Amino acid sequence: MTTPADRYAAFRERQYGSGGTNPKAPREADQELASFRALYDFDFDDFQVAACGALGAGSGVLVAAPTGSGKTVIGEYAVHLALAQGRKCFYTTPIKALSNQKYADLVRRYDSRTVGLLTGDNSINGDAPVVVMTTEVLRNMLYTGSAALSGLGYVVLDEVHYLADRSRGAVWEEVIIHLPESVRVVALSATVSNAEEFGEWLDQVRGGMAVIVDEQRPVPLWQHVLAGNRLYDLFTDTVPTAGSAGEGHTRVNPELLRVAQRDTWIERKAPPRPGRGGRRPRRFAPAYRPDVISRLDASGLLPAITFIFSRAGCDAAVEQCLVAGLRLTTPEEAEAIQQVAERRAADIPPEDLTVLGYGEWLEGLRRGIAAHHAGMLPAFKEVVEELFAAGLVRAVFATETLALGINMPARTVVIEKLDKWNGETHANLTAGEYTQLTGRAGRRGIDVEGHAVVLWQPDMDPGAVAGLASTRTYPLNSSFRPSYNMAVNLTGWAGRARASTLLESSFAQFQADRGVVGLTRQVRKNRQAMAELATAMTCDKGDFAEYAELRRSLSEREGDLSRARASSRRVEAARSLSQLRPGDIIRVPGGRRAGLAVVLQPGLHAARKALPGGARGDGNGRSADRTGHGRPGDGRPGDGRPSHGGAASGRGDPALTEFAGPGPLVLTEGRQVKRLAVADFPVPAEVVGKIRIPGSFSPRSPQHRRDLAATMRNRLASADLGGARRPVRAADWTPDADVKTGDIADLRRRLRRHPCHDCPDRENHARYAERYMRLARETEAVERRVAGRSHVIARTFDRVCRVLERLGYLAGDVVTPDGQRLGRLYTELDLLAAECLRRGLWDGLSPAELAACVSALSFESRQADDAQPPRLPKGRVPEALTATVRTWGELDQLEKDNDLSFLREPDLGFAWAAYRWARGARLETVLDESPDLTPGDFVRSVKQLIDLLDQIASVPPTTPAPPADVTASAPGTSAAPAPPGLAATARAAIDAMRRGVVAYSAVTD
Ligand SMILES: Nc1ncnc2c1ncn2[C@@H]1O[C@H](COP(=O)(O)OP(=O)(O)OP(=O)(O)O)[C@@H](O)[C@H]1O
Ligand SMILES: [Mg+2]
Repeated sequence: MTTPADRYAAFRERQYGSGGTNPKAPREADQELASFRALYDFDFDDFQVAACGALGAGSGVLVAAPTGSGKTVIGEYAVHLALAQGRKCFYTTPIKALSNQKYADLVRRYDSRTVGLLTGDNSINGDAPVVVMTTEVLRNMLYTGSAALSGLGYVVLDEVHYLADRSRGAVWEEVIIHLPESVRVVALSATVSNAEEFGEWLDQVRGGMAVIVDEQRPVPLWQHVLAGNRLYDLFTDTVPTAGSAGEGHTRVNPELLRVAQRDTWIERKAPPRPGRGGRRPRRFAPAYRPDVISRLDASGLLPAITFIFSRAGCDAAVEQCLVAGLRLTTPEEAEAIQQVAERRAADIPPEDLTVLGYGEWLEGLRRGIAAHHAGMLPAFKEVVEELFAAGLVRAVFATETLALGINMPARTVVIEKLDKWNGETHANLTAGEYTQLTGRAGRRGIDVEGHAVVLWQPDMDPGAVAGLASTRTYPLNSSFRPSYNMAVNLTGWAGRARASTLLESSFAQFQADRGVVGLTRQVRKNRQAMAELATAMTCDKGDFAEYAELRRSLSEREGDLSRARASSRRVEAARSLSQLRPGDIIRVPGGRRAGLAVVLQPGLHAARKALPGGARGDGNGRSADRTGHGRPGDGRPGDGRPSHGGAASGRGDPALTEFAGPGPLVLTEGRQVKRLAVADFPVPAEVVGKIRIPGSFSPRSPQHRRDLAATMRNRLASADLGGARRPVRAADWTPDADVKTGDIADLRRRLRRHPCHDCPDRENHARYAERYMRLARETEAVERRVAGRSHVIARTFDRVCRVLERLGYLAGDVVTPDGQRLGRLYTELDLLAAECLRRGLWDGLSPAELAACVSALSFESRQADDAQPPRLPKGRVPEALTATVRTWGELDQLEKDNDLSFLREPDLGFAWAAYRWARGARLETVLDESPDLTPGDFVRSVKQLIDLLDQIASVPPTTPAPPADVTASAPGTSAAPAPPGLAATARAAIDAMRRGVVAYSAVTD
């Protein structure tokens, strides 16, 4: 198997010739680099030297290296070079907290005049030569043509693998595509398996990009499995995961395999209850968290991060540890922790501390235990990070969000489970995710080695864990798509045609095109093979292709028919079972329960759900035809043909969806009480007699069973069960009308009459023809994929522009005033926000009312469908929100008409909280009234709302009186003055909400 590093080496060879070195790379003696290296008290790694060298030689650089390997150094070198050259450097990160951290680092190295910070929350010295910012801020600057861009020499894109993020990833591509050519890009990425591909694209759009891939973990990683109280090595090899994928370990620890075998054995063989006095082996109980932490502590493996994929799970884990009396700190450490926590919480209003759970949080911290997840107040999370980095907090229970971006390495990473709930199902952890999570293990300069510990789960397959631990496939895939906001900005900036070309240079299109190259090659090959097959199947008697086509249709119809038969039989069997009544004597036609039986309890009822062409049922399992021999009704009016019990098409299994519940409970001739299933009835159940079941009958009583079986036998002995009552053969129940009258007979006739039918070489030709047709089908499918991929981005862009033109945001190459407003709205619901503005839906509201209404666009519940109707303030809000939802509905229809689907439905779930908070309610009240909101969610949601309100406050004034029906709107190019006050109201709402826990943001100096 080739590793990403191998592929990269091959790529370098192609790029730079067989020497594998960049001829442009300067000697290491480079002055600038030497002075830069002097700033550090460690020696640079090879990859750092190589990357800095490439930068010094004037090239951009993509660095893909594991977590914690020291990529920051390269970004810092860009800062250093920019300052040395009298140019500017922007250092971008995906997360505000990371920006804050980076800003603080750089201010420490330089000074606060040289370094600025621009995030949604902070705006400090934005004109400084070095500015740390979130990537979105830079994108917005590019579109607005900000003056701050002049003199820009370097842009660092830290955590550039965010490009794959579904909701935000496009921003990275926009930045990479739109940055002026003179800017050198420093892209820092986690290890990705397609770094070579990503590098090639960067080289194509930016020109002169060196690609440096390093797979060496700075601190080697040992993999373990904790089963019971015992820590097993995952691999028997002595070499930890140090090098490239799979290197150093191939053999799974046989002891661990034995644990798995034992578990399976106990599962199958062990008696359900332990025998008296005897000891029986037990399976490993699920790990008790305080025990796990104690176990790690005893082995010197703390500090550890335990990944639990649920917020509630993390909180519960802390609580369990507290209840268990776990303490990981000395009294002095506890004191030091308390001081840090108190200092950092000093900005939080004291009256809010209770509702934030400050007391319990602090108690955990003092013991060295904490949770870390997005439901927590950001300030609390930061304290946890700080204390963990200081080695004071030693056990953190975190959701996987911790694995993204935050620099919080540990000695050990514990993974509780290898699957996680993704909102819809339990999905297995991928190798990429496993690598990312365990990447936190092993602190550079502190730990000699890092440890990954997977907790034993019943039914765990050590081989599968080993697979996760030794493959590193984490491909970086583009998530780019044009948005409405992007379309107006791009059109305004470059004109429609050039915008389209620019989009063609996205990584998304690059990846699609690469796929196309392979697909086109396949089409060519297939076509060639088809030509050869066509020759081989030539028949001198006639057109063999035509003959083969007839054969294919026939066999397809026959296949349909036999599926329909099988399905129909199941429906019939289920139907007959659903119609049984207590006391019915039936003949069980086959299987282990073959013979006579009396029904004790009916089973299976017809489910109400009607299927297309499905059977009739009155909902209680009884149909008009009591005998159980009735055909399912015909669900298609006006169609005289018998239906096949809803299965005429052979799709699905109506027997399973149409009838629900357990099968009937019967007493067999052998006096056993059994539950029957549809599978026991290849033909419908046949009632051969009836007896009365005494009210006192108890299936548990052997005496009762014997008596009832005797009654059954007596009853049958007196009846004539001869020929008239023979079991019905399955064939009697097959819908055979098609065979006689339908297409099948016709097809058979045509086949026999075809000239090729009598060819002595017929079967030979047919074999070739079959292969030909299979290949033709395959090739058509591939061609459809090719057609779908070429210019896929530009075609979407065209559709987006069509919608915008229709609504009057664009008029050809001209961005209308409405369009210019849309260009300042960077929310996911950009077009809806613009339309609300244009229609004046937010005019005349109070600040709190505006906050409530705008929250419908900025907020998105974690649960997709909230059953509770949202609580809304009285007054104008419900009306405005109704209009908002109606507007969304119209836009949604317009999108559908244009084959787009970008705009999610507005979410009213935060309106009440936003309103109350903006009206000055206490945090405790707001959280009490919205029980689903955690403090972390609340703060984040308010901040997102503030962001959007800020954009609304900053857009140019709106045009008056918009058309009510979007489909009828004409390009609105008028620019009458805005209804006064919306901007002022938005600002007032922001001021009202930026208080208390929301106002507090990370310390930035
Ligand atoms: N050559 C080196 N020798 C020793 N320590 C180093 C070296 N380079 C960097 N470090 C240290 O390693 C730690 C991790 O570095 P850094 O944060 O740059 O990693 P990273 O590659 O950016 O990781 P992430 O993917 O998590 O962002 C830092 O404390 C840094 O000072
Ligand atoms: Mg980093």
